Amino acid sequence: MSTTRRIEAALEAAIASSQDDSAPPKLAAALRHAVFPGGGRIRPHLCLAVAQACGDDRPELASVAAAAVELLHCASLVHDDLPAFDDADTRRGRPSVHSAFGEPLAILAGDALIVAAFERLAHAGAQVPKRLPGLITAIARGVSSPRGIIAGQAWENEDSVPVETYHQAKTGALFVAAACAGAIAAGADPAPWRALGERLGAAYQVADDLADAVSAQAICGKPVGRDVALERPSLVRQLGLSGAYARLDALVADAADAVPMGAATKGLRDLVRMQATRLAPMRPSLSAA
Ligand code: IPE
Ligand code: IPE
Ligand code: MG
Ligand code: MG
Repeated sequence: MSTTRRIEAALEAAIASSQDDSAPPKLAAALRHAVFPGGGRIRPHLCLAVAQACGDDRPELASVAAAAVELLHCASLVHDDLPAFDDADTRRGRPSVHSAFGEPLAILAGDALIVAAFERLAHAGAQVPKRLPGLITAIARGVSSPRGIIAGQAWENEDSVPVETYHQAKTGALFVAAACAGAIAAGADPAPWRALGERLGAAYQVADDLADAVSAQAICGKPVGRDVALERPSLVRQLGLSGAYARLDALVADAADAVPMGAATKGLRDLVRMQATRLAPMRPSLSAA
């Protein structure tokens, strides 16, 4: 089975388990809308790439870990798009969940996805109980306070925050969780994989800041120009376009260097560079910027 099929199958199983004939139909539809069709699925790909590099001896556990990370990511997007946060009416080229189903169902769908992620982990981890506490802890840290997505979103309510702290919490932490979860699901030490998650997550958020500044809604499928409009800390606002592109290049090189040496090193480095090329919005003529 391809990695893409593996991820989609694990997500399908998670969504199916969170709804049956007794579920409120609009909530069921909102959950599906939040997860399918997906975007880049970069976090579950990272999780499974690390699991494979570590031997992937429990593929069902690694698949559930990858799906759990993606469910949490999708939940974060549903909540991030709400009027109380970024007030975005489109996501992935379609109406955001609250635009399609209303705010109450968007709040509930995000909540349900968070709960489903941990329920799936508990279920799959029962077969490998020794790995479960580490797995749950690593994934929870990616989304919780003090350093996960919740903290990242909360920083937007403070008067100031260093942009790196904000990015690390709102984006980097879940990349770290994805990489560490892949290692833990395969019975390996997660420590050597942290730096890869951190640097790839940092690169990813710089690319997202660049897309917000130079891309178009028709290309990225979500509103652009939000960072200036909402006065968000952004590396483009801090460094300018050419500085942000230079930071992106440096972070991608750092991320590739952070892949631990081993049999899978070359494949993983290629994956990092390929994702970076996919992500980076087209570079305008920087002399004009
Ligand atoms: C968007 O993440 C939010 C950020 C943290 C930059 P993605 O760009 O990974 O979103 P999808 O899942 O591919 O739509
Ligand atoms: C998203 O940050 C990170 C989350 C915690 C959801 P952004 O607000 O910059 O991401 P987009 O641009 O809406 O995808
Ligand atoms: Mg946001
Ligand atoms: Mg947003």
